[in-house]
Formats: sequence, C-alpha cells, structure tokens
Amino acid sequence: MVNEIKVYISDLKNNVEKAVTLSGWLYQSRAGGKVLFLIVRDGTGLCQCIVEKGKVSDELFEQLRHLGQESSLMVTGTVRADERSVGGYELAVTDAKVLCPATDYPITPKAHGIDFLLKNRHLHLRSHLQWCIGRVRHTVIDAIRRFFNDNGFTLIDTPIFTTIAGEGEQTLFEVDYFDRQLHLTQTGQLYLEAAAMSFGKVYCFGPTFRAEKSKTRRHLTEFWMVEPEIAYIDLDGLLELAEKFVSFIVSQVLRTNKTELEVLGADIESLEKIKPPFYRLTYTEVADILTSEKTAKFMAEQLAEFKSQKEQLEQKIEDLEKQQAAGVKKWKQEKIAAEIIDLRSELAELEVVIENNPKHAKLAAGFEWGKDLGGSDETIISVMHDKPVFVTHYPKEAKAFYMKIDRSNDRVVENFDLLAPAGFGEIIGGSVREDDYDVLLDKINHEGYDVETYQWYLDLRKYGSVPHGGFGLGVERTVAWLTGEKHIRQCIAFPRLMDKVYI
Ligand code: 4AD
Ligand code: MG
Repeated sequence: MVNEIKVYISDLKNNVEKAVTLSGWLYQSRAGGKVLFLIVRDGTGLCQCIVEKGKVSDELFEQLRHLGQESSLMVTGTVRADERSVGGYELAVTDAKVLCPATDYPITPKAHGIDFLLKNRHLHLRSHLQWCIGRVRHTVIDAIRRFFNDNGFTLIDTPIFTTIAGEGEQTLFEVDYFDRQLHLTQTGQLYLEAAAMSFGKVYCFGPTFRAEKSKTRRHLTEFWMVEPEIAYIDLDGLLELAEKFVSFIVSQVLRTNKTELEVLGADIESLEKIKPPFYRLTYTEVADILTSEKTAKFMAEQLAEFKSQKEQLEQKIEDLEKQQAAGVKKWKQEKIAAEIIDLRSELAELEVVIENNPKHAKLAAGFEWGKDLGGSDETIISVMHDKPVFVTHYPKEAKAFYMKIDRSNDRVVENFDLLAPAGFGEIIGGSVREDDYDVLLDKINHEGYDVETYQWYLDLRKYGSVPHGGFGLGVERTVAWLTGEKHIRQCIAFPRLMDKVYI
C-alpha cells in the first residue's frame, strides 16, 4: 500500500481519480464469478469497493470472497464517481489488508426479534439504520446547545442526586445515599428556577430518570432532556420561544442529515413545513375535538385507509413470494427475502394499528374534562395536524404542583404541551411557574409533600419573586419524530426500558 492517501468515505468526493485507502469494516458483500462487490463502512458512510479478478492477487481475491460480515479491513483503490453507487462514489480496488476476520456475525439481514437485538446492542449499533439515527441525534443535540448558547442562555448543570420531586413521587428512583434517601433527577427545573433568578435565562441538559411503569413506545426510564428557564416571561413568550427552538432543530437536521433522513424513510416534505407559527389549542378545545362527531368520522376513515393499505401489502408480499418460487439468481433471492422481511414487519405494525383504532376511537369519544390526555388522545390530535400543536391550559389536577394557576380561570394552569405531528405525541412539556408564596405553599401541602424539604424552593417566592417559566424537550422523542422511527428505544445508543436492560 504505497503512494495512497488515507481518507474517510465522507471525503471521497474530494479524491476522485486518486488512489486512496479506506479503513473500515465489511458491511455486505456479493460475489459474481470474476468480481466482488464489497460494501465497506468506516463510520462516516458506506462505499462500494469493486474487486476484479486479476487486478489483485488470486490469494487476496479468494480471501475477500470468503470474508465475513463485519471483518475489519483496509482497502486501497482508485476513487470513481458513480451515481448508481451508494454514496455516489466507488473504489476500484488494487489492494486490501484484512485486520480481523469476523465469522458468523450474529446480526444478519434476516429478521431478528427486539430482545435479540437489544442483547446484541453493542453490535446492532453498527447497522446502517442505527448509524443514521445516531447521526440525526447528534445534530439534534448540537442544535439544542447552539440555539440556547446563541440566544443569551447560560448553561447550568443541575444535580442528578436530588432531594425533591418535580414530577410526582410515583416515578422516583430512590438512591441509598449514605443512610439517606435521595432520588435520581426527574427534572432539573426546580434547581433551574433558582439559577434563573441569578442569570435570567438558563438551561440544563442531561440524563433524566423516571421509574415509569409503562412499556409504551414513548417511554424510557433514562432519557435526555433539555430544559430552558426564563425570568420575566409569560405563556405567550414561552410558546414563541418553543416554536422557534423546535423549528431551528428541524432546520439543522434538514441541512445536515438529508441523506440519513432519506435512508430512514423520514417524511422530509412535512419536516420542511415546520416553521412558526405552530397551532395553538386549549385543553378544553382539544376535549371538544376528541368527543366530536368529526373525530369519530376521522377515526373510521383512518381505519378504512389502514385496511386498504394492509391489503396492498399482503398483495406485494404474495407477488414477491411468487418471484422467489419461480427461481432467481442467489443475490436476487437475498434481496427479495430482505424485502419480504421489511414488508412483513410493516404489516405487523399495521395490524396493531388496525386493532387499536376502535379502542382509541372509543377512548376519545368518552373523554372527560379533567383527565390528562392519554397517549392515544395525543396521537389523534397530532395526526389531525400537519404541524406541531400547542395544547395549553390543562386542568390543574392533571398537572404538576409548580404550574401557575390561571388567575382568570382557577380550574386550569398556565401550561402547555407540544404535540409533534403524524402521531408522535408530546415532545415538550412546560409552564409558567406559580410565583406566589402562599398559593405554592397550599399546593405543596395539598400534594402531601414535606414543607421543610421544599423550603428552599418556596424561598424563591419570598426574595424577589418574578413571573417566570420554562419547558423541557425530550431528545429521544424528538429524534423519533424527525426520523420517523416508531419506538424511542431506537433513538438512544443504550436504551433503558422498564423490562429490558441487557447490556
Ligand atoms: O412533561 P415533562 O414531564 O416535563 C418536565 O419534566 C418539566 N419539569 C419540564 C420543564 O418545564 N422544565 O417532560 C418533558 C419532556 C416530555 O415532553 C417528553 O418529551 C420527555 O420529556 N419525557 C420522556 N421521554 C422519554 N421517556 C420518558 N419516560 C419521558 N418522560 C418525559
Ligand atoms: Mg409532560
């Protein structure tokens, strides 16, 4: 390997017609009689490397022909631009060196169950889809920091061992802290309120823990949340900030990760519409929508649509199976088999949706003012809208103790949830905070909390209390929405779920 330059796949565009060396892993391979097509990945992308018999030694050709998926190798060759090739460039191989051959890599293109994939998460992270999601997540986090840093916010690192509960005592993880019971943070907000009285505009960003006893596709027990908190702000100000913030994240992802979004099958056209203003509905308006005739009709239409999609999928699978039976070349067989696996998993998802639709329609029709919105209610509202929806002014009983009671209607609080479109549900929760000492004290007593523990939080209402508020955005739910990934467990490298922690 002489006279070649070491490059990353992402930099092939600057090295066309040059001799270069890629260092990576074998992602896939396909062998013709006299030519091998090796797809190599190196952490920056995929590249098809073409090995022709006679252009390398016979010994190397045979070694590469039998090389297993995920073997590590360095490949040297000439870069050629080719639109049909993955990434737009390919390598005409002149030499290669295998570092560590891998045999029987456990994750193959055939379908694997979720438990198997989570047990093998250390390897599954190498799959192209997981890689694409990880790249989008990185951009989301980068955009979050940039947005707040560029808008005059100061980063405050709030503690992970906490003394007080922000979001209800039912979901606290208790920690034995030198003979004292502390808990893992559910939110940095209460500490952030103290910091906002010093710095004005602050944010915290870190891991968050909830002992959620729910196995839904929207819940992790450990997730990442960013929370801004602002002194001297009202509800309208918070909504404006939140819609600017979310639109900025979306624009950064569209700018940086178009290719990944395409691979993931994300709805890019819809994402391009994500610009302020978002829709604004009150909780009471949402309750009316859920119980309306219009919604009942909408749900019935959706059901019919899903059923017709199901028939089409079944037809497609049948056609592919016929092709398979008719006998095609080996590589085509593999391609068809992989396609059938994908379609079957789509079909399984549709079947769940078809089964759930009537239950969700019934829940919506029977929705009663006063309850918190359920996951299915959020889904209904969010699929009815093409842009995110703010739902404001929830009943005070349904929400956290720190939310400010609306002085013009004391049954509701000055809060909002932001629902992402297309059924992804709540990605942000936020509110104006109760800033009156006595009202807050009543709420703390009402919750049955120990006043002494909360005294420092009450103090903030004693020494120069001001109107203030903020919100929290969940990173994994945001990534799930942007990538079109149905389950948020795919949106963090090592997910922690109530019933699944393997590695
Ligand atoms: O609505 P939540 O509970 O709000 C708070 O924690 C406030 N203290 C935030 C604030 O005002 N500073 O959570 C905020 C967001 C949710 O909208 C959701 O995106 C995410 O955090 N989230 C979860 N994500 C994954 N798994 C869970 N179990 C989550 N719980 C909340
Ligand atoms: Mg919430």
